Amino acid sequence: MKKKASDICVGIVGAGIMGSGHALYISESIKGARVAGIYDANAIVAKKVASKVKKISSYPVTVYNSIESLLASKEITAIIIASPDQLHAEHLSMALAAGKDVLCEKPLASNDSDAKKVAQIANKSKSIVGIGFMRRFDPAYLELKRVVRSGKYGKVLQIRCTSRNVSSPTATTAMLLTNVAVHEVDVIRWLLEEEIKSVSVNLTKVTAKANSKLFDPISVNCYTSSGVLATIDICANSTYGYEVGMEVIMESASLVIENLGDLTIVKDFYLPKRKSGKLYKDWMGRFKPAYIAELNAFVESIKKRKLHPNFATANDGLAASIACGLGVKSLKGYKR
Ligand SMILES: NC(=O)c1ccc[n+]([C@@H]2O[C@H](COP(=O)([O-])OP(=O)(O)OC[C@H]3O[C@@H](n4cnc5c(N)ncnc54)[C@H](O)[C@@H]3O)[C@@H](O)[C@H]2O)c1
Repeated sequence: MKKKASDICVGIVGAGIMGSGHALYISESIKGARVAGIYDANAIVAKKVASKVKKISSYPVTVYNSIESLLASKEITAIIIASPDQLHAEHLSMALAAGKDVLCEKPLASNDSDAKKVAQIANKSKSIVGIGFMRRFDPAYLELKRVVRSGKYGKVLQIRCTSRNVSSPTATTAMLLTNVAVHEVDVIRWLLEEEIKSVSVNLTKVTAKANSKLFDPISVNCYTSSGVLATIDICANSTYGYEVGMEVIMESASLVIENLGDLTIVKDFYLPKRKSGKLYKDWMGRFKPAYIAELNAFVESIKKRKLHPNFATANDGLAASIACGLGVKSLKGYKR
């Protein structure tokens, strides 16, 4: 996409799968913004992404050798944080101290005490702060929320979620909560507009593909404040494909987000035709439209100086981290 000198200049912190994805989506598809700087602890990774971005946008991209030097840039006013989970709280605090607007990848932090501290900083800041829970921008999830909130099918009684990654060689069981289930936890809060009050984990037979410390698959049980049971079935090493799905059981219908991304409604003794076909290998394919919508909303938020309503706030990030923390606590005593 043709870029302009006047575009919002974005700096990327962490240029792995997500950081490079955001950088390329901005360059290819987002009007009003361009990537002007990248910092990754691995300079080779940063240089590779910078050269791809330069080719698309025809503007210079600086590769910085520290986050401090990137944040000192006057040209760069917006930051995307896509470093590993445990660095989000620190990187977000630094970016806010430098007066930047920030899109911080999920989770807000990898534990609830870091999440509390950084949420406080974000709440006091005048910067735009959006948390990268992109399912809030996905067309199927937005339609699901619209139908649920319309009340047409009565109350939500129960929710069943599935989350399957192809392979997760370095995952820990705690990460299945703080890194994986955190997406579903956010969606459940967003959909029901209520808090999750209790979270516990059920274990089952472990796949031979799991590393020696990982329980995989697991089933996470959450109860919300009005008493809805939400179950999140996670398999981090499915081997067969990436799948994210959700069934919302209501008083007179079952609303299903299919694993290829469509919403179907089972009602009046009728089961709609469901899509079959090739599964995605990961989230980048399945949620591409959501990432692009999220980036457009980030640019719009900066221009209007008001966070786009679809975005998760720092307080949403905090609530999700607190709920996941309850799940991590429930793992105490389980050892492999
Ligand atoms: N919203 C989503 O759908 C989604 C999907 C996947 C990952 N994520 C989140 O995005 C973040 C990045 O995930 P990923 O899959 O791209 O991981 P990744 O491992 O591919 O990339 C992380 C990058 O951060 C770099 N890094 C490490 N330490 C750093 C530091 N101190 N400063 C700057 N960079 C540093 C690494 O070199 C690496 O290139 C994670 O927090 C993850 O939870 C979000």
